[in-house]
Amino acid sequence: MKVKELKPVFSQEQITSRVAALAADIDAHYDQAPLVAVCVLKGACVFFTDLVRAMKHPTLELDFVRLSSYGTGDSSSRTVSFTKDVEISLQGKHVLIVEDIVDTGHTMDFLLRQFMARGAISLRIVALVDKCERREMQIATDFVGFPLESGFIVGYGIDYAERYRNLPAIYEVVPE
Ligand code: PRP
Repeated sequence: MKVKELKPVFSQEQITSRVAALAADIDAHYDQAPLVAVCVLKGACVFFTDLVRAMKHPTLELDFVRLSSYGTGDSSSRTVSFTKDVEISLQGKHVLIVEDIVDTGHTMDFLLRQFMARGAISLRIVALVDKCERREMQIATDFVGFPLESGFIVGYGIDYAERYRNLPAIYEVVPE
């Protein structure tokens, strides 16, 4: 696909203000309880670094996962696996999974099932963008930056063929 145009969807100012509001909600929710924030690489990297720096949680721990997924979109033929797992123990801690986009829901379905077996006190998801158009797995997002009906978006960590992750705002890709 050739990209004709990038159409602004969420501006840098809108993102900054939503991230600050999410950080405040998350801080209020967990207060001082033991908490690990897990970044789902690569897409969530920019959102994650802004979010955790906006949070005031006194003992927040950070970790990272990277997942790969094979197969077509439908639930019967989609396989998700770790290419990088967390390195710190989740036992006896609350876990906040930090995602850029929840789309079909397969990635989060896999991660929730994996983390559930690790003895976490609770598992919650913060998604910068919750996109419902192609949802196949029932995933409840706990904190959401922006709900989005449809559209192929890039920027602020989100790529098209590995490009555009460094853009400070979010755009919709308009193909030629
Ligand atoms: C994207 C995105 C989410 C996942 C959501 O990752 O960052 O992790 O897809 O899709 P789903 O809800 O349909 O499972 P991608 O596999 O493109 O990798 P990336 O984060 O490294 O860009």
